[in-house]
Amino acid sequence: MVNFLIFGPPGSGKGTQSVQLSEKFNFIHLSTGDMLREEIAAGSELGKKVESIMQKGELVPDSVVIEMIANRIDNNPDCAGFLFDGFPRTAEQAVTLDNMLEDKSTSVNKMIVLEVEHNELVQRLLSRAEVSGRADDRDVNVIENRISVYKEKTEPIVNYYREKDKYVPVDGMGQISDIFDRLSIVIADSL
Ligand code: AP5
Ligand code: MG
Repeated sequence: MVNFLIFGPPGSGKGTQSVQLSEKFNFIHLSTGDMLREEIAAGSELGKKVESIMQKGELVPDSVVIEMIANRIDNNPDCAGFLFDGFPRTAEQAVTLDNMLEDKSTSVNKMIVLEVEHNELVQRLLSRAEVSGRADDRDVNVIENRISVYKEKTEPIVNYYREKDKYVPVDGMGQISDIFDRLSIVIADSL
């Protein structure tokens, strides 16, 4: 089993690329953002708890996302690999993921970071707001807050993976198909 992290700020293309990469490499795509939005759509207790946090663009508690991810890992013991999108996002999540994978005798292969200019991120998310129905895309202040939260709380864990020699930056500007080719090369080289 292999494990790749697709990392990057809001709007950098994590979801877009993860869907296509999972298909190409037969990985299971695990997006904590998608899982949380499914809980909200289903009206579950968990969904009610996280809805207002996500609307503001803040992070939900580590324990919530860790439990969701642990369930998915446990329920898919024989898969070819996992593509983690939007997880881990804090140091605690990163350390916990390492421990969970170690228990399964596996580990993170690479942390692939999509690098995209700030203005491009905002433009992509504002465009998506017209079709996505995502509450956190509608207001430019919330978009800016999501980017700030990424810089403050999430980006620091790049160093955690850099020290383990797992950090791979990839240019996330340009055509979706070109970025897909760049990412595919990184993954194929690490299999
Ligand atoms: P999450 O769902 O992970 O959202 P995000 O990180 O803010 O990122 P997005 O999903 O908005 O962007 P993306 O990088 O996937 O880009 P996409 O491919 O969609 O998290 C949402 C919230 O959930 C968080 O704020 C937090 O509250 C909570 N949460 C989730 N995980 C958590 C965790 N681990 N811990 C705590 N809280 C957590 O692309 C964006 C748009 O751009 C699309 O319209 C796409 O079509 C377009 N696009 C993509 N690539 C290109 C390109 N190359 N050129 C032009 N347009 C493009
Ligand atoms: Mg996404």
